[in-house]
Amino acid sequence: MKKLFAVIGDPIGHSMSPIMHNDLFAFYDIDGCYLPFQVKSENLGEAVKGLKAIGAGGFNVTVPHKSNIIPFLDEVDELAASIGAVNTVVNENGKLKGYNTDGPGFLMGLQMLMPTTKNKRILIIGAGGAARAIYFTLAKEKPAIIDIANRTAAKAQHLIEDCPYPVSSTAYALVEAGKITAEYDLIVHTTLIGMTPNIEEMALDVNNVRSKSLICDIIYNPLETKFLRAAKEKGALIQNGIDMFVYQGALAFEKWTGIFPDVQRMRNNVLKQLGGNGC
Ligand code: ATR
Repeated sequence: MKKLFAVIGDPIGHSMSPIMHNDLFAFYDIDGCYLPFQVKSENLGEAVKGLKAIGAGGFNVTVPHKSNIIPFLDEVDELAASIGAVNTVVNENGKLKGYNTDGPGFLMGLQMLMPTTKNKRILIIGAGGAARAIYFTLAKEKPAIIDIANRTAAKAQHLIEDCPYPVSSTAYALVEAGKITAEYDLIVHTTLIGMTPNIEEMALDVNNVRSKSLICDIIYNPLETKFLRAAKEKGALIQNGIDMFVYQGALAFEKWTGIFPDVQRMRNNVLKQLGGNGC
C-alpha cells in the first residue's frame, strides 16, 4: 500500500520538498507519496494525531511548528531535544520520533568544501532557530572556537549559555564582529537578511575576510546573496544554502526509507525549480 509522507507548515505553498522527495520515491521505485499540508498553529496537535492515525511513514516540519511540535511526539532524539526543534518525524512502529536534520544537513554540505571543522575558528551570524541547529551540531565537532554575532548581542549570549556541548564561544554585536572577520576560517550567515526580495541587504561587513576562508549563507534565494558576492570578491570560498537544504532532505529520506539518496540528483532538481545554476 502506498505510504504517505508529508511536510507541515504555515505557509507551505513554496516548499520544494514535495518535488524533491516524490522524484526520489519514483527513482528508487518506492511506493510512497509526499504531500504538503498547511497546518495552522492551533491545529498542530490534531494534525499530528491524524498523520499518526492514518499511518503516515513520516513527515517534515517547517516554520512555525519546529519547536511547538515537540510535546505532540512520542520521542525526540538527543540532538533535536538539545536544539529544541524538530524538522523530521519518523513513524517507528506506530510511535512518532522527532529528529533535527537541519544541523547535520548543514555539516554534510559543509564537508564537501571543508572536510573537517576540528580546530577551526568559526563565526555564526544570527542567534535564531537555524543558528541554534548549526551551532550545536558544529560544537560537537571540536572546533577551536565558535563565536556568535547577532543584532541583539544578549540573544547570542543566551544561545552560548544554552549549548550543551563544550566549546569556546564569545558573543558579539554585528558591527564588532564585522571588524574581526579575518580571524575566522569559516563564517556562517543564518539570518534571512539578503533573501529575496531584500537582495541589497547584508548582515555583516566582509571587507576584512581572509582570502581562502569559507563563507556560507543558508539562503538559496537568491543563489548568491550580496553577502556571498562581497566575500567572493575578497577571495573567499563561498557556499549557498542549497547544500544544507538538499542534505537535510537526504537525511530525512534515509530515516524514512533506509536509502541515502543521490544528492546530486536532488541538487539538480532543486536548482531546476529555482531556475539557476548555483554557485
Ligand atoms: P530562524 O528560526 O529562521 O533562524 P528567527 O528565530 O526568527 O529565525 O531568528 C532570526 C535571526 O535573524 C535572529 O538572529 C535575528 O536577530 P535578533 O536576535 O536581534 O532579532 C536576525 N535578524 C532578523 N532581522 C534582522 C535585521 N533586520 N537585522 C539584523 N538581524 C536580524
